[in-house]
Amino acid sequence: MEMAQPLRLLGIAGSLRRGSHNRALLAALGDVLPDGARLTLFELAEVPLYDADVEARGLPKSVIALRQAIGEADGMVIATPEYNAGVPGVLKNALDWASRPPSPRPLLGKPVGILGATPGKGNTAAAQSQLRETLVATGAACMPAPTVRLSQVAPLFDAAGTLTDEPTRALLTQYAAALHRWVARFATS
Ligand SMILES: Cc1cc2nc3c(=O)[nH]c(=O)nc-3n(C[C@H](O)[C@H](O)[C@H](O)COP(=O)(O)O)c2cc1C
Repeated sequence: MEMAQPLRLLGIAGSLRRGSHNRALLAALGDVLPDGARLTLFELAEVPLYDADVEARGLPKSVIALRQAIGEADGMVIATPEYNAGVPGVLKNALDWASRPPSPRPLLGKPVGILGATPGKGNTAAAQSQLRETLVATGAACMPAPTVRLSQVAPLFDAAGTLTDEPTRALLTQYAAALHRWVARFATS
């Protein structure tokens, strides 16, 4: 019997720094995904600031790569820090590029999960809420629940960025199962 193709998930962290907790969170999520899904991360470092003049001359390579990666994925998962009660500019900027013509607009109808982590005492709720609004505006299909809003996360990871906190791993495992079910609802093949 032919095995079903695994669901392809694209992960994006809203942080460029090497030691990003949000990227580490996505890596940990990749480790607890059900067998029928696999996660690939896309780095935003090369995506330039949105400029309509640049766009009119032709999309930059990094933007084409971003749009292609989103287009080819069955679903996405975005882990965001919170900057000044909002979404980091690098993340908003990338979604703005991905939302633009030409068709096919890769975010349209794309199932997306949101999560977030901060080493501070907040919990990224404001950033996640803004991110959800932006994604809705692009036509993406945001998973409504469960939420993962992690506070004071530094002790949850070891020096190599590996998640070592078992309750957080258990939470991520539940989230991963829900994300898999959500994305599978939209998969056509
Ligand atoms: C401009 C700026 C604003 C920030 N504002 C907040 C904030 O409002 N709430 C918060 O919890 N952390 C805030 N932080 C701290 C981030 O949570 C911290 O840099 C975090 O490590 C970023 O996520 P990362 O580990 O994935 O890079 C801010 C950081 C920067 C650079």
